[in-house]
Amino acid sequence: MKFQLLLRAGSALVALPLVSPFSFPSSFTSTPIDGSTTPIYRDARQRWPRQGEDKLAVITYCYDDHATQARLAPVMRKAIQIWYDELGGPASKASGHGLVFKEYGAPASKSPWCLQNGKLWTAESGIPMDAVRVHANDRAKAVSTVGYIEDDGAETGGRHEMRLDPHTAVEGAWVFAHELGHVLGLLHEHQRVDRENYVNFKCANVQGFHETQTVSFEQNPSEDANSICTNYSVAQRYGFDAMQYIPEDNHFQTDASPTFDFNSIMLYDSKTFAELRESCNAGSTDYCVLLKWTSPAKERLEYIDTNKVPSEGDVEFVKSFYNWQGRD
Ligand SMILES: *[C@@H]1O[C@H](CO)[C@@H](O)[C@H](O)[C@H]1NC(C)=O
Repeated sequence: MKFQLLLRAGSALVALPLVSPFSFPSSFTSTPIDGSTTPIYRDARQRWPRQGEDKLAVITYCYDDHATQARLAPVMRKAIQIWYDELGGPASKASGHGLVFKEYGAPASKSPWCLQNGKLWTAESGIPMDAVRVHANDRAKAVSTVGYIEDDGAETGGRHEMRLDPHTAVEGAWVFAHELGHVLGLLHEHQRVDRENYVNFKCANVQGFHETQTVSFEQNPSEDANSICTNYSVAQRYGFDAMQYIPEDNHFQTDASPTFDFNSIMLYDSKTFAELRESCNAGSTDYCVLLKWTSPAKERLEYIDTNKVPSEGDVEFVKSFYNWQGRD
């Protein structure tokens, strides 16, 4: 199996910044995205349940409203297509997987939208309670819950969501495909516990690093200055994007994959979250955030390009996690 099996508790929202011009505001603020500081999702790294004779893992999703659908649906459909293409088509014996992405289709008398009178759907709405709420996040980040979340009775228990940038073009659908990876249960490849053997994370190049450093020093002068880069809860406290890079031993210890997958769609490219994005490229890596060691001897660092389709490893994982007819 190619990916980590557990998620750190309470951190199931995982972000990827978008590639549209709207994605990187020149004045970065360290304001966390809605809800990202609230540990509302727990033990999220679970498989979507099977249903019906063919034991399909059906992931139903709904859009907040018509306007959201109009803006996001073309890119969402493309992102789903990206996955199906790599998986060898829709769920079937031939493709070897039982995964179904399904846009909620309401009967004529009912509303198909996740928002009903401004509130999330209820058990009476007809929408499966565990459907994925797809909504527009104008803060230019894409975030998603990871894996299946059981309803534990908490306010957000059993809820799933994807917050997507409505400015994303169809060519940028790989960003949504990355987010779908999270919904399926995939985690960031660069957060493997052994990632130091494969990549180099340059935290000082992450957008907002200096502001975060200043604020953290003002607020907690006694705290280790490095902790904004090395401690998930500290980075999260300041809404600092380094949190998307921090490996956590306790929660990633079950990674069974022997090697790091440089082709994974769950691996950030070198310029993701870079403060000086335009100064990070294959020819000039000083301002990059994540670089690849060219050999185990760690002699040289190299630019990591964007993976826009799921890798063989991603596919292998999904086909084993959601195999046809639920055979384990
Ligand atoms: C991370 O920071 C939190 C809050 O300051 C602290 O309680 C925790 O012990 C730190 N974790 C590690 C691994 O240092």
